[in-house]
Amino acid sequence: MKTKQYLEQLLNQMTLEEKIGQLIQLNGNMFSETKAEITGPARKFGITEEELTRIGNVLNFDDAAHMISIQKKHLEEDRNQIPLLFMMDVIHGFRTLYPIPLAMGASFSPKLMEACCEMAAKEAAAAGVHVTFAPMVDYVRDARWGRVMETCGEDPFLNGIMGAAQVKGFQGDDLTAPDRVATCVKHLAGYGGAEAGRDYNTVELSERLLREFYFPADKACIDAGVKMLMPSFNSLNGVPSTANKWLMKDVLADEWGFDGVVISDYNAIEELVVHGIAPDFRTAAKMCFACGCHIGMMSNAYFETLQALVEDGEIPMEAVDEAVMKVLSLKNDLGLFDDPYHGVSVQREAAVTMTPANRDLARRAAEECAVLLKNTGILPLSENTRKVALIGPFATSQAIRGNWACHGENADCVSVADGVRAILGEERVLTAKGCTCYLEDLSTEGFDEAIRVAKEADVVVLCLGEEQDYSGESHSRVDLGLPGVQLELARAVVAANPNAVALLFNGRPLVLTQLEPLVPAILDMWFPGCEGGNAAANLLFGRTNPSGKVTMSFPKASGQCPIYYNHPSTGRPKATPDDVFQNCASNYLDCGNLPLYSFGHGLSYSNFVYESLELDTPTLTKDSAITVNVTVYNDSTVDGQEVVQLYMRDLVASSVRPIQSLIGFEKVALAAGERKTVSFTITEPMLRFYDFACNYISEAGEFTVSTGYADHLLLTQKFTLQ
Ligand code: BGC
Repeated sequence: MKTKQYLEQLLNQMTLEEKIGQLIQLNGNMFSETKAEITGPARKFGITEEELTRIGNVLNFDDAAHMISIQKKHLEEDRNQIPLLFMMDVIHGFRTLYPIPLAMGASFSPKLMEACCEMAAKEAAAAGVHVTFAPMVDYVRDARWGRVMETCGEDPFLNGIMGAAQVKGFQGDDLTAPDRVATCVKHLAGYGGAEAGRDYNTVELSERLLREFYFPADKACIDAGVKMLMPSFNSLNGVPSTANKWLMKDVLADEWGFDGVVISDYNAIEELVVHGIAPDFRTAAKMCFACGCHIGMMSNAYFETLQALVEDGEIPMEAVDEAVMKVLSLKNDLGLFDDPYHGVSVQREAAVTMTPANRDLARRAAEECAVLLKNTGILPLSENTRKVALIGPFATSQAIRGNWACHGENADCVSVADGVRAILGEERVLTAKGCTCYLEDLSTEGFDEAIRVAKEADVVVLCLGEEQDYSGESHSRVDLGLPGVQLELARAVVAANPNAVALLFNGRPLVLTQLEPLVPAILDMWFPGCEGGNAAANLLFGRTNPSGKVTMSFPKASGQCPIYYNHPSTGRPKATPDDVFQNCASNYLDCGNLPLYSFGHGLSYSNFVYESLELDTPTLTKDSAITVNVTVYNDSTVDGQEVVQLYMRDLVASSVRPIQSLIGFEKVALAAGERKTVSFTITEPMLRFYDFACNYISEAGEFTVSTGYADHLLLTQKFTLQ
């Protein structure tokens, strides 16, 4: 790594145009156009070849060979010899895809998250990626929003832990190492609070709500050493995040002391004009720059106007220098001034990508993330079953990688059929598609074949779900049911053979209210990535015991959204939350208040009995701690893993508090017949909250501590904070 003086010298020798180049990121395909003629995207952008040599950052590219050729050409032409910084969205794997982040949350295993990110970093870095636009830690409560697939769900505590695990997994301890990438936490702030779950929609959130639910995961990533941050597209309380002074200056820079690089989201600076917050690009650029946005992603605004803004005295040169120094420092942290290629080679890329070990980790992850939502005892299936029918759009489909797949491909994914065939052999596995998973496709032409196949089999696995690109950016939905005629297919198949379980593929919680009574078991695979079919087969046949837990409520009806377990009490709560007839209570006339599946729910082939929850003392002071011991017994003949969850409720406070908040969890392995005691520590800071004036305080009084899961607490004790 170079010294600070080296970077300062470099900065001193740079012209204003060269400095501004460091503050712009353009797409990789703009750099690979021939010298002779600027065409395609670069031409549309209005950039000359000479200007292109000054640009400092690249968004997306093909592979190691592509990266090497872009970097080489750049260094041949850049008189300052400042390497380009290459960035990409490595969200749930680079080429070897593991489950989508919403599923990874369901594993409740930060260790697994870290291991998967480490593997992704190795593959991505070998292809030339320096920075990944992960972790995405947007707090969510509304499954209509398609980007819930990129998050770990509705709990701020879990999100923070999983976000920090991603930072650690990608970055490690030494960013100069050729198998590490820097991380970029996104999107600050409130993006997941888009009104009505419609992507990019306006966001109005109180400061109290932001601080208590939306900020903690961002802050946890900053504390874990994240190198970059991306503000969100949305307007937050009237001002888009990228130009929101309170958010970017007062909170991020001054209060949290974030000193890394801030990059705008794609074209977000220009979008201030569309928001109607700036009359033109120049004003937009000035506003964002003043709020500490250092790099403009695909930004015409910085490209066209920053120079004039500085020359006209509207942006001080010192501010430009400060921004450039941050970018240079990140390049230096990655060791790029010593090795602009960061150890990349085509050979290394081939050697570390999609290895059997990587696929093995992806499969184990897919198994740990799956959630057994319902099981009356039909699962696991016997490997002696004479014939199994796999029916539905996901029976033979490889389209289970999940959105934000980076360089992963459908063709890399193992289908359910192939996974099950690997266990049962070809002859005992029947398949029929029945229908598609497309919203607009109402054709029932495949039903007859599906019914015929169902009748021929002993057991049916209905492989249903949502098309994989129905979740993700700009993919909001208003009706969260199974798309197309899948429910009708399930009805027809179950009528032909009631021995039918459902295996789901989905990027968000779906409304399963009508499917649930039709089948004795539902196993949710989410979008499991490249090893999904093998993982599903192992789980279905009991070679692996499911251990995932829901991290985002599954609503009973789309109209329940937003729905989340950690909501404040109302003055008129329902006596029993699922009673529809209670008058003058906070309820729906046509649906209970509870979701179909709550946060923390997830079954196992083992039977876990929560035997006791004990506190070593019922009194807590500012300087003491309470030890909570939870004893769990595996009352079955099957080894398994259980996520022991700890919830807290503040019974009386000056602000209305959530009816439960997760304050601890631990995933423990319990062999058949084994009993374990899991210990948690409660201290005063864990009881703090933001009061009406947004002071972060704790208040003396009574609290409960419980175990079980969100809407189904099993054991509860009281304690007092003095
Ligand atoms: C998304 C970001 C992403 C960026 C670059 C944007 O549209 O909102 O999350 O990092 O594109 O791909």
